[in-house]
Amino acid sequence: ADMGVSVDTALVDALLKSAPRPEKAERSAEPATPVQVRRGSKTVSDWANEARAAAKSATTLDALADAIRAFDGSPLKSACEQAVIYDGVPGASLMVIGEGPGAEEDRRGLPFVGKAGQLLDKMLAAIGRSRGVNTFITNVNYWRPPGNRNPEADEIAVCRPFVDRMIELVQPKLIIAAGGVPAVSLLGSKEGIMKLRGNEYAYSTPDGFKAPMIPILHPAYLLRRPQDKSRAWRDLMLIEKRLAELA
Ligand code: URA
Repeated sequence: ADMGVSVDTALVDALLKSAPRPEKAERSAEPATPVQVRRGSKTVSDWANEARAAAKSATTLDALADAIRAFDGSPLKSACEQAVIYDGVPGASLMVIGEGPGAEEDRRGLPFVGKAGQLLDKMLAAIGRSRGVNTFITNVNYWRPPGNRNPEADEIAVCRPFVDRMIELVQPKLIIAAGGVPAVSLLGSKEGIMKLRGNEYAYSTPDGFKAPMIPILHPAYLLRRPQDKSRAWRDLMLIEKRLAELA
């Protein structure tokens, strides 16, 4: 109801019962790194290798956050205020991965604290989740792109080793990919978010940590297209059900 959807519980139950079994496609965890792109004296692939080494040697979230702040492989770093790394509870069973910081996040140094973040908080609250108690929130890119454009593939690729390491350190039972950018990049998919959302995928980091991943529509998109909130509601119901099964 907080999301502006009037809920017919009988209909939701019927939809959940008739929903196809979650898709269990195994996806490659390796991003398609655009190897030839040069950034200063190094290629994107060099920077991704540097990120991988730094991420691997981080054995705590604090150490990983320090490694991300010290990393110079993203061209976005010099144009924004600060790295936005994570919020919420380390070790939470639910991890939300979004696209990257906007203006408010850049200013405050925390993910999902602008208008879209407020809607995300309401969506999570609808399934008994909050960043203060039982949810961990991060992004596939840590630095705000100028003008809030989407991050480019190579900007996401250099962050990916940190994202995978963060997943390994948090050990979530379930991951939500919030929006097309994280869903498509993490799953290495050719499909768009409208096809991916509401399905379950088996995500695996290169070092072998596995967790189910369910993509949802991005809350910023839902603010622009409130008529799609019922789809998000259905996806949240699936997430709540799967979290209960995985507990
Ligand atoms: N949108 C995102 O995807 N992430 C944020 O942190 C903020 C807005």
